[in-house]
Amino acid sequence: MLEIRAPAKINLSLEVVGKRSDGYHDLVSLMQTVSLHDTLSIQDGPSVELTCSDPDLQSESNLVWQAAVLLRNRYAPDSGCRIHLEKRIPVGAGLAGGSSDAAAAIVGLQRLWNLRLQRSQQISIAAHIGSDVPFLLVGGLALVEGRGERVTQLPTLPVQWYVLAKPPFAVSTASIFAGLRQDEWHDGQLTRVLASNVRSGDALELGVNGLQPTLFRLCPEAQRCFHDVARVTAGRCLVSGSGPTVFARCRSRTMAEQAATELRACGYWTAVTHSDAPES
Ligand code: C5P
Repeated sequence: MLEIRAPAKINLSLEVVGKRSDGYHDLVSLMQTVSLHDTLSIQDGPSVELTCSDPDLQSESNLVWQAAVLLRNRYAPDSGCRIHLEKRIPVGAGLAGGSSDAAAAIVGLQRLWNLRLQRSQQISIAAHIGSDVPFLLVGGLALVEGRGERVTQLPTLPVQWYVLAKPPFAVSTASIFAGLRQDEWHDGQLTRVLASNVRSGDALELGVNGLQPTLFRLCPEAQRCFHDVARVTAGRCLVSGSGPTVFARCRSRTMAEQAATELRACGYWTAVTHSDAPES
């Protein structure tokens, strides 16, 4: 039995730089995996079978199931697996939980089925499943460009603590991209500068989230959550991805825990988590 961790991600910066002919958007983003994670338990089986701690996610629309079937059809047609997914990352939260589960399935099944896939083959499967999946194959801190398929790893920085808060509803990524206005696009410069600062050994600053204005326009409750996090942490915070989860950097684990206690009292789901190094 293999156990694989599927970490959540946060976007330390996310700029939408244009719309592509395939309908997707080109992004320049700084992504970081964190310690909050789901867990996949993978073993041999006759076909592709998936069970999940959340029965609502136990279906063929689960990205784990889709990744497993795609990998098997392309590279291991006579193989099978039984996967159990233990969920902790909330769904529709902007934390890429489903994408990370799929990335973990791709990594785990390559081991189970003794596949020696080239990087380009892995990226092709990952990008087919979802835009965040190529980054989540590696994790850590990275500059992510294009639709999400161009991933440049950045040096691992000292551990940083974060508090996460999410209002009690899910957000569809597609609806946020659909509501995005062209005057909310950026040129990607800020995020690229932040990445090059990290390469030169400078501290990592938070950037912008170009999806945030659209999210706040469509879901005013998400903006309320953002203001609550800013008030409680007295610091800079950002929405992660298309939201509605808001994260703030905290100087210590204790400060993150204090903030989480206050934010739970406001009715939010919360987590205290820290930056993660890439899978070696
Ligand atoms: O790739 P993924 O399935 O996670 O994306 C969900 C939706 O978000 C897409 O259907 C698309 O509408 C939008 N999206 C986008 N540009 C990206 C990533 C996602 O327009 N780079």
